[in-house]
Amino acid sequence: MNIIDIINKKEAKGELTNEELKYVVDNYLNGNIDDAQVSSLLMAICINGMTDNEIFELTDIFLNSGDKIDLSTIDGIKVDKHSTGGIGDKTTLVLVPLVASTGVNVAKMSGKSLGFTGGTIDKLESIPGFKTDLELEEFLCQVRKIGAALVSQTGNLVPADKKIYSLRDVTGTVESLPLIAVSIMSKKLASGVDKIVIDLKIGDGALIKTISEAKTLGRIMVEIGNHYGKEVVCVVTNMNEPLGHAIGNSLEVMEAIDTLKDNGPDDLKKLVLTLGSYMVSMAKNISYNDAQKELIVNLKNGLAYKKFLELVNMQHGSIENLKVSSKVFSLKSKKTGFVNEIKAQRLGELVRSIGGGRYHKEDNINYEIGFLLNKKVGDYVLEDEELIKIYLGDKDINVNEVLDCFKIDIEPVKEIPLVYGVIK
Ligand code: URA
Repeated sequence: MNIIDIINKKEAKGELTNEELKYVVDNYLNGNIDDAQVSSLLMAICINGMTDNEIFELTDIFLNSGDKIDLSTIDGIKVDKHSTGGIGDKTTLVLVPLVASTGVNVAKMSGKSLGFTGGTIDKLESIPGFKTDLELEEFLCQVRKIGAALVSQTGNLVPADKKIYSLRDVTGTVESLPLIAVSIMSKKLASGVDKIVIDLKIGDGALIKTISEAKTLGRIMVEIGNHYGKEVVCVVTNMNEPLGHAIGNSLEVMEAIDTLKDNGPDDLKKLVLTLGSYMVSMAKNISYNDAQKELIVNLKNGLAYKKFLELVNMQHGSIENLKVSSKVFSLKSKKTGFVNEIKAQRLGELVRSIGGGRYHKEDNINYEIGFLLNKKVGDYVLEDEELIKIYLGDKDINVNEVLDCFKIDIEPVKEIPLVYGVIK
């Protein structure tokens, strides 16, 4: 067997066998196959797709490429949430303490930024001192103690995804539906949880652009989960504009804190309550509506925010020292009208271009920079009124490129719902 034949087979739309897929993964992990060869295969997969069989086989190979976590020392049904990635998506930062505040244990592992989308781990690392790389026993112990922990993949969990995810990030092969399904499901299965809620985002600011792609991806992820005896719920949500107002690491943490104090933007609050209600209802075996009532109460009575502070404290972070850049510019609208579109992906790319994300695996992130939207889709804006604030670091930005992200018209367009539907 050799890698060139495997690449050529996929280029010719052939179906790869378990042995061929395993050969690639094993030899990439041990260094016998290099980045260029795997990039080429990933590109062939991106263009020609994978059969369901290939997706199942590759998920299993990824899952068995490293350790699997045993969560049996933590009480109750363990439920996890995963997002397919979007712009301004700080949902996990709110959801984990909120769900944990209802007594459900949440042992959450998250990832770094991918492509133009931000990553929860980078956001957490903008909190000075916050430790995301806990040892496995430390991670489990924290969940047993306070009911929640938020860490980067610990130990040797799905090393195949770790290495291939970083390569996809810098080779334009992030958007492949089969690769997304394998990446997400192998990690969720290895993390030892019983039930999984997936926030499947679609739209301009998401990796998945259309409802039909979302249906395909949702179906395969539910099937993979069920195959391993795990219940999976995919909530298909709108990512046609950034979530909330903040884009950029520290700014997003601040917005998550506001939301935990029940003072956050409507769309973020609604999304968190929707995903959280599925998580709590699955973990406690209660109705969706009863779960939602518990969550609303804990946002109002301060328990959710208290749990967040406990979590940050346990992981050595100090939110008092959270910083945003003092180099702030306010961009004003050039006309009066309804904001009918905010190009989320482009804003995500611009944040990356001024240092808020990575182009190369080893790039450092400037946590203090980003954007704060003053207007959302559907809002009315006057000429000369602020559209957005820009927090800059040492890189420049062309303000016209930021203004071009906003489409302002005399007439409003029809509102798009935040939640399109659920696949289970
Ligand atoms: N999230 C993941 O974990 N993997 C992907 O491939 C895309 C989003």
